Amino acid sequence: MRILSGVQSSGKLHLGNYFGMMKQAITLQEKGDAYIFIANYHALTTVHNPDEMRENTKNVALDFLACGLDPEKSVFFRQSDVPEVQELTWLLSIVTPMGLIERCHSYKDKLAKGIPATHGLFSYPVLMAADILLYQSDLVPVGKDQKQHLEVTRDIAIKFNNEFGETFKIPEPYIPDEVAIVPGIDGQKMSKSYGNTVQLFGDLKEAKKQIMRIVTDSKGLEEPKDPDTCNVYLLYKLFASQEEREQMAANLRAGNYGYGSAKKELYEKFVETFTPLRQKREELERNLDYVEEVLRKGAERARAAATVTLDAARRATGLC
Ligand code: ADP
Ligand code: TRP
Repeated sequence: MRILSGVQSSGKLHLGNYFGMMKQAITLQEKGDAYIFIANYHALTTVHNPDEMRENTKNVALDFLACGLDPEKSVFFRQSDVPEVQELTWLLSIVTPMGLIERCHSYKDKLAKGIPATHGLFSYPVLMAADILLYQSDLVPVGKDQKQHLEVTRDIAIKFNNEFGETFKIPEPYIPDEVAIVPGIDGQKMSKSYGNTVQLFGDLKEAKKQIMRIVTDSKGLEEPKDPDTCNVYLLYKLFASQEEREQMAANLRAGNYGYGSAKKELYEKFVETFTPLRQKREELERNLDYVEEVLRKGAERARAAATVTLDAARRATGLC
């Protein structure tokens, strides 16, 4: 089974990225043949500062390796090191109906945030389809916000196969319910563009401040509270064992347990979970040649797989 996912190098990774996508992809590397990449072509739709782009790409690589991506098990690479994806994007774009892309929410959301309407931003989902189809992926772990892009990918693959003969596998999204939307500190979806994140490897004092700022209702200390609508609990749940979850849920329901205490427990869990990963990241940061070598080898392996699919698509369309 081939598993594939990507994350844009467009900013600092946060708990939403970790629980929504990275953790799934890293767990799945034990179950199949995982391809994980840094979507720097996609990030170019919003980041136009070359130094920032390089820095972001390095940080995403460090974050993934620190969080447990094992380059012996997974193929880890930079999207732009496999330029074959661009040619496939074109071959897919000639069967992609305009209406399919015009309906994509993420494009409209980005315009609403003030990102200029460029052709690259508009055709983003076709490049994403090429990422997925190029590697004949079976399963794509992503957060819920990417579900529509997966549907678009499937539609494009079906259309291409119908017109030109069986060329692509039809991929399935992998979106476990409990992590589909990780809430931010304001209760909306956690996202770097909403400024409501807790970064994975940012300054610890900042992380503590963010956690202490998580929005809750105004129930007093002694009042019983509902865990299912409590943003602190919803985040705590992602880290905690079954027993720990039940304990916090029971404390909230019982009353005489304030949101401040819940936040403190959440912060402690955050520190406990990420301290070993933080140490690993620091080690990797002192060994950037190793990180570069991992990405180079990953690109070589990815390119070998990519060429096979691209050749088939070129033959199918009569380019060769
Ligand atoms: P952001 O919204 O911060 O820009 P990205 O769009 O770069 O994040 O997301 C990278 C990956 O992480 C995607 O698979 C996305 O679905 C997942 N992801 C991001 N934020 C969340 C969240 N709050 N909950 C679940 N998954 C998320
Ligand atoms: N669009 C994805 C995001 O914003 C990143 C991405 C690009 C991706 N290509 C992909 C994710 C292919 C999964 C598969 O998060």
